[in-house]
Amino acid sequence: MLKLDARDFIMPYFVIEGVNKREPVVSMPGIARLSIDNLLKDVSRSQGLGLKAVLLFGVCPEVRKDEKAGYGYSAQGIVQKATAEIKQKLKDITVITDVCLCAYIRHGHCGILKKSKLQGKIQNFCIDSEKTLETLAKIALSHAEAGADWVAPSAMAKGQVLAIRKSLDAHGFKKVKILGYSAKFASNFYGPFREAADSAPQFGDRSAYQLDYADKKAPLKEIAQDIKEGADMVMVKPALSYLDVIRDAKARFSYPLAAYNTSGEYTIVKLGARQGLWDEKRMAAEVITSIKRAGADFIITYHANDLARWRIVK
Ligand code: PBG
Ligand code: ZN
Repeated sequence: MLKLDARDFIMPYFVIEGVNKREPVVSMPGIARLSIDNLLKDVSRSQGLGLKAVLLFGVCPEVRKDEKAGYGYSAQGIVQKATAEIKQKLKDITVITDVCLCAYIRHGHCGILKKSKLQGKIQNFCIDSEKTLETLAKIALSHAEAGADWVAPSAMAKGQVLAIRKSLDAHGFKKVKILGYSAKFASNFYGPFREAADSAPQFGDRSAYQLDYADKKAPLKEIAQDIKEGADMVMVKPALSYLDVIRDAKARFSYPLAAYNTSGEYTIVKLGARQGLWDEKRMAAEVITSIKRAGADFIITYHANDLARWRIVK
């Protein structure tokens, strides 16, 4: 029988500037944006519950957002400071950092944009690939310099894994690993996250660079490509509506595989429980078990601490 194991969970954390801050994310009951002092306490608690890894998202102060996502690669950025503190003060915890532009750039898209030359496109912008890859590589490098064990590019920019790998290697960070958000769909299940990370696009949507959920072939192609570019682990995101993709990916590549149980999937479970529709513990256990059964080796989930605390795990 399958058993959930806390060592397979990755807990996402949202980090903000300031001291003694714990700002609840209204759309995600039980989740708060934490300043570094509180982050250290909570990560240490996660460890006590048996977790081995956390995923950090930086929240950028509004006034620090610009046109090139500069705060994202500043040595004094929040992810860089948080990573350094965790690695300094806590032992044996794997720090994974999210690498993207959307939280740091004014328009909230995952890349640097240029006007689209294509006539008849619904959205009249496209990603400036060269500038975006350069920026992603800079962000990843700054995280590595701060001590990140893994970097996780989530921009869905073509060639992002290779660009980051090259830059890390060239700067002496061969040991820093890459978790590719390989098959990331343009999904409705990200809604609450965009409040948490303050990263909602100010116009249009992300369908120009995230995958169409009606496309059965693209996710496997993207995963194959990320493996070729040197990803140490690949990911399917979201998880619950994409269990078939998780299973296909595991069967096809037998490569280390993560699945992201996203903010929307989490919030459904929470809100349903609050309405008395189901028991939260049982529902979370069922959801997360199904993701594991489909073939995910690691599950990124906002329920990670909860599941470990409820002893639904080994
Ligand atoms: C964007 C990003 C998103 C998430 C993580 N990184 C969503 C988006 O495309 O806006 C979603 C995570 C979640 O919903 O829990 N780089
Ligand atoms: Zn993004």
